[in-house]
Amino acid sequence: MNRVKLHNKYFKLFIDAESIQSAISKIAEIINKDYKEKSPIFIGVLNGSFLFTADIVRKFKSNCEISFIRLSSYSGTESSGNVLEVMGLNEDIKGRDVLILEDIVDSGNTLVKIVDLLKKKQPKSLKIATFLFKPNAYKKDIPVDYVAMEVGNEFLVGYGLDYDGLGRNLEDIYIIEE
Ligand code: IMP
Ligand code: MG
Repeated sequence: MNRVKLHNKYFKLFIDAESIQSAISKIAEIINKDYKEKSPIFIGVLNGSFLFTADIVRKFKSNCEISFIRLSSYSGTESSGNVLEVMGLNEDIKGRDVLILEDIVDSGNTLVKIVDLLKKKQPKSLKIATFLFKPNAYKKDIPVDYVAMEVGNEFLVGYGLDYDGLGRNLEDIYIIEE
């Protein structure tokens, strides 16, 4: 498919599935070396990173655990809509080597929140791998340790990324048509 329509917008083919897989193979090789003896916990951030997580862990050749988290607005008594908590982490990550797997890092706001929340659980190490990185949009100081592909600021869909819920199932990446 060269062009897809999601809701009211059109998107055109931008990165094909083969290029995605070859970029992922490259960082998977480095992750394999860095985590060989560590029995890491890979933590995928839902929903976007489900495909990236599946591809990375299938290429990881040593022992590892796999878990998923989701960020959700804090539902306690505080009324601020900005407070987030991490949902779904059942594993004790204290003293463990943790690698966060993200679909895309844009401004970095989401990442900073995840890192702050997970650091409180005292992992031995905490690193970040992302499928896509938007360097011109990134506003934070935390280093992004593993990046499969760098892209511009345009809005993308496919391979886990959605436009208002649609497009996550596409095996290629598509870019919005202006
Ligand atoms: P942040 O700005 O780094 O916090 O990114 C916030 C979230 O925005 C990401 O986790 C994605 O869910 C979403 N996002 C950012 N850029 C794109 C894009 O190009 N396509 C689809 N979702 C995006
Ligand atoms: Mg996301």
